[in-house]
Amino acid sequence: MHNTRKITDDLTFLGVNDRRIALFENVFPVSRGVSYNSYLLKDEKTVLLDTVDKSAHDQFLENLAYALDGRKLDYLVVNHMEPDHAATIQDVVEKYPELKIVCNAKTQTMLKQFFSFDVDADTMIIKEGDVLETGKHKLTFIMAPMVHWPEAMVTYDVTDKILFSADAFGTFGALNGNIFADEVDFEKDWLDDARRYYTNIVGKYGAQVQALLKKASGVEISMICPLHGPIWRENLGWFIDKYQKWSTYEPEENTVLLIYGSVYGHTESAMDILAGKLADKGVKNIKVYDVSKTHYSEIVAEAFRCSHLVIGSISYNGGIFCNMETVLNDLKAHALKNRKVAIVENGTWAATASKQIKAMLETMGNMEVLEPTVTLKSALKDEQEEDLNKLADAIYSSMK
Ligand code: FEO
Repeated sequence: MHNTRKITDDLTFLGVNDRRIALFENVFPVSRGVSYNSYLLKDEKTVLLDTVDKSAHDQFLENLAYALDGRKLDYLVVNHMEPDHAATIQDVVEKYPELKIVCNAKTQTMLKQFFSFDVDADTMIIKEGDVLETGKHKLTFIMAPMVHWPEAMVTYDVTDKILFSADAFGTFGALNGNIFADEVDFEKDWLDDARRYYTNIVGKYGAQVQALLKKASGVEISMICPLHGPIWRENLGWFIDKYQKWSTYEPEENTVLLIYGSVYGHTESAMDILAGKLADKGVKNIKVYDVSKTHYSEIVAEAFRCSHLVIGSISYNGGIFCNMETVLNDLKAHALKNRKVAIVENGTWAATASKQIKAMLETMGNMEVLEPTVTLKSALKDEQEEDLNKLADAIYSSMK
């Protein structure tokens, strides 16, 4: 049985869901699963756009056979070689031996690395701007290196103005029958996962995403078909604007993210008190996370959302608390920049964390440290409330 859906008269959605997966890329928790999207264009020629993860191979091949309805498969366009989209290529080649794979030269090299079929004989190499005429439709190709691998490209259907955007504009989360963003409450139910997907998967490559957005702005786009998550056919500008902010490391909101590493709860307590003081001043949508409890991928996403960070860490083995250090390394790895940062440290006999946190922030881009740094010695004392008040004042003033 198939679970395809029609997108247009000529275009069919063949995507499949994976709700069993625990960790995407064996790193990122995906409690709502993930979808691997694939598309079939039926024109005078038939064109499959990307395949799916190995885990979804059976359903995908059934969907493809159903959608082809007895026709042969002429082309497979490979926009991205990461195995969540490419693992099934060899199966497709073996089932439809007459097809030609349409890809760029870097993709061809990767095909040879991953697979054992005769790649040279089966591929047709294209470059940026080349056109594949399939009858009524004309497909053209835009290179998108490092969004999210070096071979990545996107395909644009000139006839219907549809952008097949590869990893760009994707999101974590399995689809629920509703494959279009306008069929769900995206901002309420999907935006957090879309942000976590973007920031953790391609967040590091803001400059390359900017380059792609610039190229894509030169064409009229009526629909975006990504490789994960819902398809966009309405309100595209709203989602493109999110990408504009994320890829330029501009905060989405003027608000505060407080993250802490605390062993016996004293640093945690100071952070909760500080969060309350900020709320008293009128700051909205504040978030407080324990770095030992919340996965760092969620904290990376929240750090892209918020204009201000408060880092609260005990001193541990003469340095930053281990789980906080992991988070800070991850923020740096994803190139987070342009944030205002306050620090609360704690040390029963030698508070060393703030010095090392500041040293790490200096290696990131445009991270402004707000003073005073608050130092606790074991527990927060009544007389130190003034320190927290001053820090809350400094954070609030810098938000205006
Ligand atoms: Fe969804 Fe980079 O693969």
